[in-house]
Amino acid sequence: MSLTTASSAAYLVAGLLFVLSLAGLSKHETAKAGNTYGMAGMALALIATVALAADDLEAAAIIAIVAAMAVGAALGIWRARQVEMTGMPELIALLHSFVGLAAVLVGWNGYLSVEGAPAGEAEELGLAVEIHSAEVSIGVFIGAVTFTGSIVAFLKLSARIKSNPLVLPGKNWLNLGALALFVVLTVVFVVEPSLPVLAVLTALALALGWHLVASIGGGDMPVVVSMLNSYSGWAAAAAGFLLDNDLLIITGALVGSSGAYLSYIMCKAMNRSFISVIAGGFGNEGAAAVGGGEDGEHTEITAADVAELLIDARSVVITPGYGMAVAHAQGPVADLTRQLADRGVDVRFGIHPVAGRLPGHMNVLLAEAKVPYDVVLEMDEVNDDLAATDVVLVIGANDTVNPSAADPGSPIAGMPVLRVWEAGTVIVFKRSMNTGYAGVQNPLFFRENTRMLFGDARERVEDILKAL
Ligand code: TAP
Repeated sequence: MSLTTASSAAYLVAGLLFVLSLAGLSKHETAKAGNTYGMAGMALALIATVALAADDLEAAAIIAIVAAMAVGAALGIWRARQVEMTGMPELIALLHSFVGLAAVLVGWNGYLSVEGAPAGEAEELGLAVEIHSAEVSIGVFIGAVTFTGSIVAFLKLSARIKSNPLVLPGKNWLNLGALALFVVLTVVFVVEPSLPVLAVLTALALALGWHLVASIGGGDMPVVVSMLNSYSGWAAAAAGFLLDNDLLIITGALVGSSGAYLSYIMCKAMNRSFISVIAGGFGNEGAAAVGGGEDGEHTEITAADVAELLIDARSVVITPGYGMAVAHAQGPVADLTRQLADRGVDVRFGIHPVAGRLPGHMNVLLAEAKVPYDVVLEMDEVNDDLAATDVVLVIGANDTVNPSAADPGSPIAGMPVLRVWEAGTVIVFKRSMNTGYAGVQNPLFFRENTRMLFGDARERVEDILKAL
């Protein structure tokens, strides 16, 4: 069997492993197997690609590739070991930016080695040179939008810049104008490829990516992360066309389409228009984030009093949020669940689709703490039961339980939330009266049936366990 046939077979197997990986990642129970399939597929793809390239390359080039892979792997292992679960979304955003940058570099390399080369390959390509130029233009465009969009997402998610939406005058026209200009520049570039046109096109796409993500408010960031995931897939597929690599095209299309589907699911869950979000908040003129200070009277409670309430309760629902992840409170929360269940209390969890900072964040933490899957319910499964629930424990959640989502003037207007205020008593675990991720004040804290239990969520849950 020739090396080309062997590597084509390896690519096919790697492609199948990626499909199995996506299928596995769609359920809790099979997520670990999904990851293993993905890793196996990627290892096979890397070996096959390097083996195929090694056939044509000189020893020095092969050493350079292997050295680059070793450095990349070392950095990857170091970051993966260091990163906290709460830091995953920003790391993912940063990794998407690398895919975007790689697509831009592949595009520029494509231009410099074909259309822009002095005694170019362009003549050899003949008519196909036009297709090549279109591939360069599209690949660079998607890559550059992904690159700067992901950098802004990284900065917002890591709180290096404010998560409020940027509202430039006529922002939708700016985006539409940039798209129209891209089409014009692509036509010009295909007819007469030149470095200045490619440079202008790259700068335009970099600015558009920045503006698209900067225009989206904090509450909609989950959709942006999955959307950038999709863009990074399309950027990789575009690079695959330029490099004539079938596996990169397949993998890019898999990532692109699964990311687009995830964005669609998230938009549905958040009651947002998919088109509006991919168009940088089109149709949403960016209500500015409000609040941050006190707004009414709140009532505090002690951990001992919460323990008493829980002993007397028949039904308890726990709605965790980002604060549970920050406090690493999932272990004590799982202990509390077991203790209450042993005392005959019906304890369930209500999980908002965007609680935390990445899709499935709370589910992963609760699974890690060995909370049985059957008591972990989705928001829609638990919302109608909340009115008949004695006590709701809101552990480090804020935006996902904010009644102001029903207010049309609110930046989170229309977002479905857990209607915890309908329960008998609501206990809110947090450290201060600060707002949540979207920067919106939460009227829940001032309701008559709400009690605030201030402090680190882990310490407070441990106090309740002691009192029990
Ligand atoms: P948030 O609205 O972010 O609120 C988290 C709360 O946890 C804060 O009010 C904070 O209050 C409290 N907290 C932080 N550390 C704590 C600790 N150690 N102990 C106790 N409390 C602590 O959380 P949420 O309800 O989960 O909503 C998620 C938000 O993130 C949404 O706006 C969503 O759109 C956005 N987002 C989600 C994702 C995904 S995919 N899930 C991705 C990006 C953005 P104190 O500071 O007063 O303690």
